[in-house]
Amino acid sequence: MTPAPDLTLVVARADNGVIGKDGRLPWHLPADLKHFRRVTMGGAMIMGRKTFDSLPGLLPGRRHVVLTRAARWRAEGAEVARSVEEALGLAGEGASVIGGAEIFRLLEPHADAVELTEIHAPFEGDTLLPPFDPSTWREVSREDHPAENGHPAFSFVRLERVGG
Ligand SMILES: NC(=O)c1ccc[n+]([C@@H]2O[C@H](COP(=O)([O-])OP(=O)(O)OC[C@H]3O[C@@H](n4cnc5c(N)ncnc54)[C@H](OP(=O)(O)O)[C@@H]3O)[C@@H](O)[C@H]2O)c1
Repeated sequence: MTPAPDLTLVVARADNGVIGKDGRLPWHLPADLKHFRRVTMGGAMIMGRKTFDSLPGLLPGRRHVVLTRAARWRAEGAEVARSVEEALGLAGEGASVIGGAEIFRLLEPHADAVELTEIHAPFEGDTLLPPFDPSTWREVSREDHPAENGHPAFSFVRLERVGG
């Protein structure tokens, strides 16, 4: 499958694969929220309906393209898509895919980069994502941050598609 031009997955994943718990993020990591804001700002964000429901509200400065199968679902500020093709068409170039697990799985074949926050601690949760396959994704940058102030250590990692 040909990746969409400039489509980036934006993922925070604990070392044990957990990305969500009870419809929310399992951790509170202010540095990662800032990073998320920086990498998504100004563009379209493609997300699943459950992730949209988990947001505290519309995130300023970004378009919200929401995948749902429900014929009548709508929400103020959301652009509704009922297929991957429709979501990609609405989002256009330079979009981010912000989850959750169902939507990462659906869109990974279309993406050409991943902005991955590795959280270096195990977390309990009910939503998991497998590791990114090193034969498909190669690491191009890494920024490590130690544990401090009760927050776990984490790394901001950029992956790009092999041969992309
Ligand atoms: N750590 C992270 O980076 C991160 C990022 C985002 C979310 N999360 C967490 O992940 C959890 C939510 O993830 P999730 O996997 O349960 O849900 P999700 O991917 O956010 O949303 C799933 C929903 O997307 C819609 N959908 C799925 N496939 C579709 C398709 N082929 N066509 C049209 N619509 C489709 C369906 O909506 P309908 O049911 O309306 O039909 C489905 O219920 C939460 O805990 C959230 O906090 C973590």
